[in-house]
Amino acid sequence: MTNIQIEASSSSGLKKAMIDIHCHILPNLDDGAPDVETSLKMARFAEQDGVKTICATPHVFRPPFIQKNLFDIVKKWSDFVPQLKANDIQVELLLGSEVHFVHDLIDVLKINYPYFGLNRGSYMIVEFPSNHVFSGVKQLFFELTSRGLNLIIAHPERNSVFVREPALLYDLIKMGVFTQVNSGSFSSLYGARTQEAAFRFLEWNFYHFLASDSHGRHKRSTRLSRAFRKIQELIGDEEASALVEHNPRAAIEDKEIPFFKDPINPTKKKKTFFIKIPNFSKEQLER
Ligand SMILES: [Fe+2]
Repeated sequence: MTNIQIEASSSSGLKKAMIDIHCHILPNLDDGAPDVETSLKMARFAEQDGVKTICATPHVFRPPFIQKNLFDIVKKWSDFVPQLKANDIQVELLLGSEVHFVHDLIDVLKINYPYFGLNRGSYMIVEFPSNHVFSGVKQLFFELTSRGLNLIIAHPERNSVFVREPALLYDLIKMGVFTQVNSGSFSSLYGARTQEAAFRFLEWNFYHFLASDSHGRHKRSTRLSRAFRKIQELIGDEEASALVEHNPRAAIEDKEIPFFKDPINPTKKKKTFFIKIPNFSKEQLER
């Protein structure tokens, strides 16, 4: 894939049409919102932050949130959507999921695939355990992408294998796999190692989406606008807008994402990063 020019953003300030493709907002399904009241607070918070569209992405196949009956998820979503309007919250809520990678995923997807993708399309968020990437991942990813799935690896900066072996992530991206960074990874939410990895992966053009992965109003509740402003300073308004507006819009409309930069091969990169975290004040990092 090559770079495709996108329209310049109309604003260099707070974004007004952000799309959050990764959010555990549906009530009482996984380790996200425990009840409807929290879900509504999360939606209100996102609306005030400039988010126009949220994809509800409950964990699927991740113990103990197996969610074998996917119709439960659909029902939770369809029950909750009217609550937004009833509470005058101007946020569009679409359905997706965060699929925990299991070895028999191909067989599962043959049956249930339309329920897994963002807005029931071909873009699907997948997650790995925090300290493991199983062998054979390249072959399985190849088989899935060959079937037309657009895989989005959730927060690779939080996975110790990808952090230790970024060349593996590079290879997957070169195969056509996408990645999504958590907004909280650019602050100290998950620790210094994750934060450093997030900036490094950003520098290497590894990311295609920025999302909140929010689990509650206070629990891992991170503003997209904060992270947007932070990366805007580093990679510019056009690229930052692509991660939080243009690429997510294409994904939920099941179109080819408009912004894709060739990733930098980390094995050929000098060890000094052009993005140097110490250049940022503590205030900037926490902002
Ligand atoms: Fe998540």
